[in-house]
Amino acid sequence: MERQMFPVYDRASEILNALPGGILLTAAANGRTNTMTIGWGTLGMEWGIPIFTAFVRTGRFTRELLDANPEFTINVPVGQFDRKILGFCGTKSGRDVDKFQELGLTAVPGVEVSVPAIAQLPLTLECRVIYRRAQNPDAIPPRFLEKYYPQDVGSDATGSNRDFHIAYMGEVVASYLLQP
Ligand SMILES: Cc1cc2nc3c(=O)[nH]c(=O)nc-3n(C[C@H](O)[C@H](O)[C@H](O)COP(=O)(O)O)c2cc1C
Repeated sequence: MERQMFPVYDRASEILNALPGGILLTAAANGRTNTMTIGWGTLGMEWGIPIFTAFVRTGRFTRELLDANPEFTINVPVGQFDRKILGFCGTKSGRDVDKFQELGLTAVPGVEVSVPAIAQLPLTLECRVIYRRAQNPDAIPPRFLEKYYPQDVGSDATGSNRDFHIAYMGEVVASYLLQP
């Protein structure tokens, strides 16, 4: 499959505008490749390098994979695509199901990282985790604490639950559009 490389900030608005509708974060470790829907993230710069930061709750299967192999890809839909992919990957855990297999997702080997891109969501950022930061509950504004961290909801809930997020800051080491 062809890759059309681009400087990452050239498509920043497209990537950020896609976030509210959901994009995918893919991770791989211990013989498993898994992807999950994310709606939160930032693209910016620190230490003179481009960084995509994803916010992953501590109980997600994805968190286990990221901690075992600190690399991920960001997979953004372009044009027509099957929206049920985002629903499925945002409500099923890789602990219970192989999402690639269930959805027939096509894994395309990464260039700079050991985690694949996904043909069906072709706008791709390859990222290497260079810093991670657990959120401090005491520093979160109360209105967000109540809304996003209900302490009576267990960690296995795929939506909001009692778990706080870890910010995974990934250096963007490649950015491209997959082309059939
Ligand atoms: C639109 C949407 C956005 C989401 N955004 C996030 C997010 O930014 N961070 C997060 O931890 N979970 C988020 N989720 C929930 C995860 O995608 C969901 O819990 C998923 O099942 C986790 O998969 P895993 O257990 O295989 O890692 C989102 C779900 C949806 C539907």
